[in-house]
Amino acid sequence: MTTNKPRIAVIGAGLMGHGIAQVFALAGHDVTITDTVKANLDSAKARISTNLKDLGDEQSAVERVTPVADLAQAVRAADYVVEAVLEDLPLKQKLFAEIEKHVRPDTILASNTSVIPITDIVRGLQRRERALGTHWWNPPFLVPLVEVIETQWTKPEAVDFTMRLHAAAGKQPAHVKKDVPGFIGNRLQHALWREAIALVENGICDAQTVDDVIKAAFGRRLAVLGPLENADMVGTDLTLAIHKTVLPAINNRPGPSPYLEKLVQDGKLGFKAGEGFRKWSPEQQQALRAKVLQHLKKAREEDAKH
Ligand SMILES: NC(=O)c1ccc[n+]([C@@H]2O[C@H](COP(=O)([O-])OP(=O)(O)OC[C@H]3O[C@@H](n4cnc5c(N)ncnc54)[C@H](O)[C@@H]3O)[C@@H](O)[C@H]2O)c1
Repeated sequence: MTTNKPRIAVIGAGLMGHGIAQVFALAGHDVTITDTVKANLDSAKARISTNLKDLGDEQSAVERVTPVADLAQAVRAADYVVEAVLEDLPLKQKLFAEIEKHVRPDTILASNTSVIPITDIVRGLQRRERALGTHWWNPPFLVPLVEVIETQWTKPEAVDFTMRLHAAAGKQPAHVKKDVPGFIGNRLQHALWREAIALVENGICDAQTVDDVIKAAFGRRLAVLGPLENADMVGTDLTLAIHKTVLPAINNRPGPSPYLEKLVQDGKLGFKAGEGFRKWSPEQQQALRAKVLQHLKKAREEDAKH
């Protein structure tokens, strides 16, 4: 059954692409999905079905997803195209140039890059005003936020359309008004990670203690109390006094930590090597992944109640 909702094309059927397709299909959109790797395309619907079942979502949503091997055919009828291929600038640039040959002049084009500037990806387009970034978080069907990033060329109508599209699909869009590295979420996240690594590097505590302190203290509040709400709650005057003392002591190195560089040089690559900042047995890895998933599912259930 077709709908009169905007038709979506998703490019790349990997971890993010199949999840993004799932969210739009569940919201009632017809979705085409394409991938250059046949096995990834062929398995997309089965993966979506498994997710829908696991989440207790409407199973028939998967029927609105159509895998299409040919890029031109996948995007031809689309009102909105979102790219989720590998994080590779030349690949994304080439892909967008190709997509633009096959879509209507008013079709909105979005990239789900994690960190590549949207400006660099869309610079060569004929119609840069209809292009923007949409940064989803993994897994796309469990984490509510989608950052909508405009470039200097994006027209306000394209931003409005994209914000409304994602809100109507049950996501929480956040408008990023300048195309800055890391957008909003990753800037904040990695400001915290920089200091977390510095605390270990400087012998103040070990890696587990850093994580324990965050999870058992302000991490408990973070999902319901943002830092600026928190600053207002305690008072901007108190926040100023704290910053005068604490900020000069916090790490402000402009590049990656040598401690992190050494871990990588030594092959301590995290889960995949059994050791990173900490040692990880296969059972511990599995338990932590399961814990995160369970936590996100519970949060989604709570959201659905309100
Ligand atoms: N994994 C995350 O947590 C996450 C979060 C936010 C954003 N992103 C970004 O989303 C994008 C996709 O990441 P992912 O984790 O889903 O990667 P992935 O490797 O799981 O999937 C990428 C898919 O793109 C396909 N592909 C490669 N070239 C293609 C082409 N020319 N045309 C069509 N398909 C092609 C691959 O075959 C693969 O199936 C990246 O830009 C990534 O940085 C990832």
